[in-house]
Amino acid sequence: MYAAMGALGLAPAKGTPPVPVVGGTAAPSPYVPPQRSDFALRGGRPASVLVLGAGVAGLACAYELGKAGYDCTVLEARDRVGGRSLTLRGGDTVTELPVQGAAGSASPGDTQRVTFGEGTYFNAGPARIAQWMVTLDYCRELGVPLEVFVNSNSAAYVLTAGMKAPVRVRTARADAYGYISELLAKAADAGALDARLTGADKERLLDFLSAFGEIGPSHDYTGGERRGYRVNPGIGQGSELGAPPSLTEVLSQGLGRVLTMDAGYEQAMPMFQPVGGMDAIVHALARQVGADRIRTGTRVTKITNTPDGVEVAVEGGAPLRAEYCVAALPPHLLARIPGNLGADVQAALATPVPLAAGKLGLEYGRRWWEIEDRVYGGATETDLDVGHIWYPSHGFHGPRGLVVGYYNTGEDADSYSEMTHARRLRRAIAQGRRVHGAKYGADLLASASVSWRRQPHIEGAWVRWPSMGGLRLLQRPAGRVYFAGDWLTHLIAWQAGAFESARKVVTELHHRVLKEA
Ligand code: ALA
Repeated sequence: MYAAMGALGLAPAKGTPPVPVVGGTAAPSPYVPPQRSDFALRGGRPASVLVLGAGVAGLACAYELGKAGYDCTVLEARDRVGGRSLTLRGGDTVTELPVQGAAGSASPGDTQRVTFGEGTYFNAGPARIAQWMVTLDYCRELGVPLEVFVNSNSAAYVLTAGMKAPVRVRTARADAYGYISELLAKAADAGALDARLTGADKERLLDFLSAFGEIGPSHDYTGGERRGYRVNPGIGQGSELGAPPSLTEVLSQGLGRVLTMDAGYEQAMPMFQPVGGMDAIVHALARQVGADRIRTGTRVTKITNTPDGVEVAVEGGAPLRAEYCVAALPPHLLARIPGNLGADVQAALATPVPLAAGKLGLEYGRRWWEIEDRVYGGATETDLDVGHIWYPSHGFHGPRGLVVGYYNTGEDADSYSEMTHARRLRRAIAQGRRVHGAKYGADLLASASVSWRRQPHIEGAWVRWPSMGGLRLLQRPAGRVYFAGDWLTHLIAWQAGAFESARKVVTELHHRVLKEA
């Protein structure tokens, strides 16, 4: 009978037991979304909630609470939903905050009008999703179609300060693995590892190294097919690239970071992207929440806990009241909003340091990277100030395509951030030419760039916590105000962090409402 009531929405449905997997379980305990039937047996009613911020965390909170009938209103200062999940298309406008000059003077804000052609899009914020991330579960639930995001491609290039010219990732990898294998094998041959290895260990290690580094019986690395071909095999046997550079040269290339980028847990292939642009996720969430519940262009100016609810003042309008509030804004912006959340909360909000990142989208009228370089997706890794250059993972062989001309962070992002778009473009094209030559500046149709530090109502790409004390404080509510965002998780700079944080807040808020019923 209980199951039948569950099916009719009169009793909580039974959760599905988690399936054990080896390593990387989805979550320590399965998430159970709030549902209307939770109130049927226990009494009470869904509360009213003001959600501040229509980024991934805020929208996910409103979406999840909406499943149980909570009366959510989402306030968003920008004129569009999504926050950092920003996909730019032709017709969009990008306005950036003025640069603060050294002497405190501000240069004029830079406004770009995006002129990409039909079908071209630029994920200026998040662009890739790992297999284990909860973001994929939301794509499944919301019906957002996915395709593979090529996060590493052996045909793309590497260019570091130690190199005279770019080389293909496959070549750099073959040489690095080859020489490391040679060194280790020769150290083992000379007995230098005898204190660590039994005779059998040594044999197995040498076996491994001969495959790992493609070293021959003499244990010398002399290059080989893995380095690539000057003329590809076909009817003829082709012509290999030939002998590798010297060990000294390869070591001076500084390849550690660039060759291990996709070894990270968050960056391993295959990765995924929504078809048509990352903002498909936030738009699907916003549709579920309902346009009538989302107020864009609404800036919060004060947050006050009252004895039985929360009052939120907004610019140019009457204050709004609800029983609860979820503040899903970046912490450095929340820290500037007055209210009565308490000195310790205010100090904790001011603790995370906003960091810089920037991206430039270059729309070309010819997919030269496919036609001439035979590069289908993936990234060129550099230690130039452009950081990474990304090739599109979709639209292969189409008439146009969008290359990410830079994706940089830290000082490099800060230096591009201070430039106008026109200067960013000139600099990035000059840098890209060092990898791709003159064609990098030809056939360019349109471009757009984003400095996340200069994005109004965001003011940073993501944050870093210098100390963790404040994090734990803000993972709890301040009165009736809860905090949500990737910045409250160990998945900072990932939409998955925002979703995980939203689920935690929604669960805690719902349990509180049920308890107080
Ligand atoms: N999550 C961000 C990225 O993948 C930092 O680049």
